[in-house]
Amino acid sequence: MLKNFYNGKRVFLTGHTGFKGSWLTLWLKLMGAEVLGYSLEPNTEPSMFEELSIYSHCRNEFGNILDLKRLTEVMKNFKPEIVFHLAAQPIVRLSYSEPILTYQTNVIGSLNVLEAARKCDSVKSFVNVTTDKCYENKEISRGYKEDEPMGGYDMYSSSKGCVEIMSSSFRRSFLQDDNGYAMATARAGNVIGGGDWAADRLIPDCVRYINANKQIEIRNPIAVRPWQHVLEPLSGYLLLGQKLFEEGKKYADGFNFGPNEDSVLKVADVAQKVVDYYGKGEVVVHKRDDLHEANLLMLNIEKAEVVLGWKPTYSADNAIKKSVEWYKNFYENDDIDMYDYTIEQISEYEENMVWNKNFVTK
Ligand SMILES: NC(=O)c1ccc[n+]([C@@H]2O[C@H](COP(=O)([O-])OP(=O)(O)OC[C@H]3O[C@@H](n4cnc5c(N)ncnc54)[C@H](O)[C@@H]3O)[C@@H](O)[C@H]2O)c1
Repeated sequence: MLKNFYNGKRVFLTGHTGFKGSWLTLWLKLMGAEVLGYSLEPNTEPSMFEELSIYSHCRNEFGNILDLKRLTEVMKNFKPEIVFHLAAQPIVRLSYSEPILTYQTNVIGSLNVLEAARKCDSVKSFVNVTTDKCYENKEISRGYKEDEPMGGYDMYSSSKGCVEIMSSSFRRSFLQDDNGYAMATARAGNVIGGGDWAADRLIPDCVRYINANKQIEIRNPIAVRPWQHVLEPLSGYLLLGQKLFEEGKKYADGFNFGPNEDSVLKVADVAQKVVDYYGKGEVVVHKRDDLHEANLLMLNIEKAEVVLGWKPTYSADNAIKKSVEWYKNFYENDDIDMYDYTIEQISEYEENMVWNKNFVTK
């Protein structure tokens, strides 16, 4: 289904130098799509983009989404049919020191990408990636549904809540009836997988501590999050991109993509599983600082299941295992080509995708 659809499609992807964007570029390439990636240069060392030469699997444009003129020019010249917008300042803790950058990138940057696409007649489908943190967090023990109020205590979360409100307004103002493209927002939970080296994210932090032979210091052991492998939300974005393209505005709405309820785990338990699968390391609780982070965050994924026919495939445990295997191979196994290994992980996921049987691109 997805493979046949994306084969030969022209896809404009923002954020292709980042963690999710690198995986998405490879997956789209594997399905035969023609991808143009538009992002800032990678900002981690190492980065999946550099290590796997992602630039050689797409048309690579380093550019800023705040530069509306250049963004529009590049998009118009490429004539994409589908846009996946992933570029963002996505780190909660950085949003405390860089609130302006966070709002500019996430809110104005997203508005620019929506506006550039409006100037581009070829665009039919637009997947606008936000986050599960866009909801007003009431620390409740059930998952948020798509129609619940937007909010956010910290500047990252609220910037994404703003992106949701802005996108809804943009849709109602400019994309009604026969006007413009079909645009949906995608809200996913905590995403893990190999190739993420961002600061202040649990699995990359664990891997850094383990490789430095240091104890793994965690700040908020009892915080509960919906953990999912990176290929889970990406499969949801791909399905959404296809539905918007084929059936249009019927799907132009917000969708949650999260794991099943049994994959909602405490930070301490995830860190311990990383140690167990790595075969080394030790978890210790570090003194908390006073930056607020949500303790309890869960998503209700019924809408994606019923309306799109999407379902999560991997348990959190399996997602942690796959992530650790990726990093272990990267750091400890010189005989493994990480590009081939990543493609293998994508192919294995395709073979197991519960909602899309017979989906194999390799
Ligand atoms: N990783 C997660 O756990 C998670 C969870 C929920 C939502 N998300 C969302 O998914 C998306 C991708 O996240 P990620 O984890 O891959 O992040 P990442 O930090 O690895 O990648 C961010 C990407 O955005 C690009 N970017 C940042 N500012 C830009 C600018 N001004 N102009 C052009 N490009 C710019 C970067 O160059 C990079 O390619 C983000 O929108 C994020 O908010 C991530």
